[in-house]
Amino acid sequence: MSKTSVCIVGSGNWGSAIAKIVGVNAKRLPQYEDKVTMYCFEEMIEGKKLTEIINTTHENVKYLPGHKLPENIVAIPDVVEAAKDADILIFVIPHQFIKGLGAQMSGKIKSSAIGLSLIKGFDVAEGGGIQLISHLITKHLSIPCAVLMGANLANEVADEKFCETTIGVKDKKMAPILRDLFQTPNFRVVVSDDVDAVEICGALKNIVACGAGFVDGLGLGDNTKAAVIRLGLMEMIKFVDVFYPGSKLATFFESCGIADLITTCYGGRNRKCSEAFVTSGKSIADLEKEMLNGQKLQGPITAEEVNHMLKGKSMEEKFPLFTAIHKICIGQIKPDQLIDCIRSHPEHMDCSDGFSKL
Ligand SMILES: NC(=O)c1ccc[n+]([C@@H]2O[C@H](COP(=O)([O-])OP(=O)(O)OC[C@H]3O[C@@H](n4cnc5c(N)ncnc54)[C@H](O)[C@@H]3O)[C@@H](O)[C@H]2O)c1
Repeated sequence: MSKTSVCIVGSGNWGSAIAKIVGVNAKRLPQYEDKVTMYCFEEMIEGKKLTEIINTTHENVKYLPGHKLPENIVAIPDVVEAAKDADILIFVIPHQFIKGLGAQMSGKIKSSAIGLSLIKGFDVAEGGGIQLISHLITKHLSIPCAVLMGANLANEVADEKFCETTIGVKDKKMAPILRDLFQTPNFRVVVSDDVDAVEICGALKNIVACGAGFVDGLGLGDNTKAAVIRLGLMEMIKFVDVFYPGSKLATFFESCGIADLITTCYGGRNRKCSEAFVTSGKSIADLEKEMLNGQKLQGPITAEEVNHMLKGKSMEEKFPLFTAIHKICIGQIKPDQLIDCIRSHPEHMDCSDGFSKL
């Protein structure tokens, strides 16, 4: 039987951390080809091509410095060259670049390939709604697409600190194949068939993380931050309930749900830049450039994409936290108005019997 060949589409902070795991597992397990290709957006670092640096020193000096990648990871600057022979395509790039790459890859990959998206964010669909990135991949490349989301800050994963993750996949045959490619003693995989909800959790938590960062910047303390996290979770649940009915509440208690929400509201880059947004008064775009060394912020654009849809459906006031966070990011309201905006949250409105609505 021929071996399964794997390509990682992306080589940023998370792409490189996941390459450490996938490279080791592909080499260790007999069912996978040893060589794993990694599409790397080419850039020059001190006069040298990043792909050449990765392929000679086995370190992504820009996005994951201080970590050696397995030697069977081969960086390739041409996405078609990297992806054309792959049976499993792992998509791990900032979501704003997926359409462009998808267009380049269309018709040039194996028709039997399957995708797995690690991308957190949405695409703005024609007509005002949003489209899930895994659905976009399926539409553009005509391949099924599973997802992997979880409380997985890339540097901690690269340090091999224990964590959990959630793989969302419908096809029962694919579940063990994907699990085995990622599972390690310190990266524990739970598989779910609630694929859309798994993916939506991963995208929406970045909005809430901006709210947590504003709370930190305002010096409001841990109780306020816990309230923002709780209200954020309730809006995530409601969002899935309203727009993707039929999903399971239990999914929010997997790593992709509450666990990712907590870690990102304490440790992630969206929280960090949002805190600096309040304390420095600089714009989100300037802070992204200054603080992230080429890494991309997902929270503010995801807030904008979600707001675009909520506005179109006259549902902004049903999601007051998401709405307030978006308005703060674009400078429409001041960060210190966050609490005013959520004080009368539907969650705080009692029903006639005195109990809260949910
Ligand atoms: N970093 C994390 O801790 C983490 C964890 C889980 C999920 N994610 C998600 O993974 C995805 C990828 O994030 P990341 O952290 O690997 O990336 P990153 O933000 O660290 O790096 C940005 C990447 O984008 C590439 N890039 C820049 N311009 C490009 C272009 N025009 N076309 C294509 N690529 C371009 C850069 O080369 C770089 O590889 C995001 O959706 C993110 O939300 C990240």
